[in-house]
Amino acid sequence: MADIESLLKEKRVFKPSPAFARAANWNKKTVSELRRLGDKSPERFWARMAKENVSWFTAPKKTLQWKPPFAKWFVGGKLNVSYNCLDRHLEGENAWRRNKAAIIWEGEPGDTRVLTYGELHREVCRFANVLKDHGVRKGDRVALYMPMIPELAIAVLACTRIGAPHSVVFGGFAAEALRDRINDAGAKLVVTADGGYRKGAPLPLKPAVDQALQGAPGVEKVVVVRRTGGEVTMKADRDVWWHEVMEHASASCPPAKLDAEHPLFILYTSGTTGKPKGILHTTGGYLTHVTTTAKAIFDLKDEDTYWCTADIGWITGHSYVIYGILSNGATSLMYEGTPGHPGPDRWWDIIERWGVTVFYTAPTAIRTFIRQGDEHPKSHDLSSLRLLGTVGEPINPEAWIWYNKVIGGRRCPIVDTWWQTETGGIMITPLPGAVDTKPGSATLPFPGVHADVLDEDGDPVKPPAGGFLVIRKPWPGMLRGIWGDPKRFKEQYWSKYPKTYFAGDGAHRDKQGYFWVMGRVDDVMNISGHRIGTMEVESALVSHSDVAEAAVVGRPDEITGTAVVAFVTPIASVQADGELKGALRSHVARQIGAIARPAEIRFTEALPKTRSGKIMRRLLRDIASGKETAGDTSTLEDYTVLARLRESEEE
Ligand code: WTA
Repeated sequence: MADIESLLKEKRVFKPSPAFARAANWNKKTVSELRRLGDKSPERFWARMAKENVSWFTAPKKTLQWKPPFAKWFVGGKLNVSYNCLDRHLEGENAWRRNKAAIIWEGEPGDTRVLTYGELHREVCRFANVLKDHGVRKGDRVALYMPMIPELAIAVLACTRIGAPHSVVFGGFAAEALRDRINDAGAKLVVTADGGYRKGAPLPLKPAVDQALQGAPGVEKVVVVRRTGGEVTMKADRDVWWHEVMEHASASCPPAKLDAEHPLFILYTSGTTGKPKGILHTTGGYLTHVTTTAKAIFDLKDEDTYWCTADIGWITGHSYVIYGILSNGATSLMYEGTPGHPGPDRWWDIIERWGVTVFYTAPTAIRTFIRQGDEHPKSHDLSSLRLLGTVGEPINPEAWIWYNKVIGGRRCPIVDTWWQTETGGIMITPLPGAVDTKPGSATLPFPGVHADVLDEDGDPVKPPAGGFLVIRKPWPGMLRGIWGDPKRFKEQYWSKYPKTYFAGDGAHRDKQGYFWVMGRVDDVMNISGHRIGTMEVESALVSHSDVAEAAVVGRPDEITGTAVVAFVTPIASVQADGELKGALRSHVARQIGAIARPAEIRFTEALPKTRSGKIMRRLLRDIASGKETAGDTSTLEDYTVLARLRESEEE
């Protein structure tokens, strides 16, 4: 509450500078015209964007077919995403882009690679042929479990070229999490690497694939990139080296003419149960959404060097490292490693050396940098920057001001962009040449996006007031479903309010109608901008033989936003000690991945429950954050549990 109050007292307003506004892709006039159109008819707005920003083999016949909660966008249209991201920059008046950098890549050890649009096109065609040669057909799923290397972008685009939906699994996930995702998607082929570099050392990936595949019989082939040169076991008949199969692959591969609603990718994200959801995105609507938003919000120009620090294993990396950036013919910088290697100034060094102009990162990273001290950014020339962005969690005004001052030299607008894996692209955001910003607010919905804040009864709140964030009308980048689980799709997003998308976030609107997103209102935690379900961590904990019961909640953390706190009841015969805590923390890291590892474990003889047996998370959240429990505890089964839990606090 204290955070929220401080956020709502924020009164500062930053206007776009006249110079920025003058040169912006979307200026005030464009924005007000497009807002009017989008308010009146989102369909007409998006139809216009689809025509202006996307190349179609066959133009769509109908913009939207909406049978709530199922939407089809650009019905009858045919297109190819890799064509939009590559081929169209090599043809006609854009042909000069053939030798323009599509991807500037830097490895953590300092090695670099620049792929021009021409080269990237060739590599993508070759790998598309490799996929075909290894039995991948249109509609087959391909899992990608890779470090941040150019081959990941190549593999993603190669999948889109032949219409094979990809499922990228973040390289930080453990073998078990990988196996579940491979099986749920029914992937036939996996692309991986021997490893990647993190924090100055090679981090192996292939052993996790080997382990996962012991429980994933559907996978027929594995393609392995040699990145670190580390030792790997190659299974005969199953595993092949990337460089060997690419050697003879032809660089000619016509793009498949795909239906606008052809599945483009599945990306797993955490929900309120123990099982991650496979969020499904399709071709035409998604591409229209990410291409349009990238052009308008990041103001992409041909001379820009754009850098988004997200890993491609998350939606931000899909939409705004690869798709939305390359479809605009812009230059996307990709960095393999961690911000702190070899020193805390690595990112600023990258910005200076490559002359980065547009920079998009997460508030958690900004908070870490604030703590490390201004001397690190100040030791570099950051004057190439002209626009900054944030994503993934609310940004506190102090961090916003620091970002503006120390990184942006007070000259760069900041776009605080609200969106989700499910929305595909940015939904609530400033337009940098047209919208006044307020530190901590994502400002206003993108044109054509009908966002609102509703009260419990489904009525819009009267600003200034808070409630639940919803989207009232379909939008092109919206998820088309949860892979293999239409029931969960309906329940999760469309059951709280009729025909309205429920985002799972709480938000406030101020007098000007600006949106202030406050964070999740469900059992999803946001750890350093990454979503982890409390149930997921709980099921990992109870899968340990020493654990009888576990409840997991988030508590506010200065750096990571939220930290995982686990309340654990061990089975009677085991010693509840520091050693067990250590064992449980590594168990969770092995089951899910290091990001889910609890910051704190508290042992308790019992968990507070209602009479019907539901764990009272609200109480646990208060205890975890050291707050007095003000809420109603009348349904608590055992009052003494509460007192004992407080005592369990770690020194
Ligand atoms: C949170 C990331 C406040 C929010 C693109 C959302 C934000 C979840 C913002 C989605 C923002 C994202 N301000 N909160 N600008 N951006 N969030 O699926 O809680 O990894 O529901 O997508 O992150 O996380 P996801």
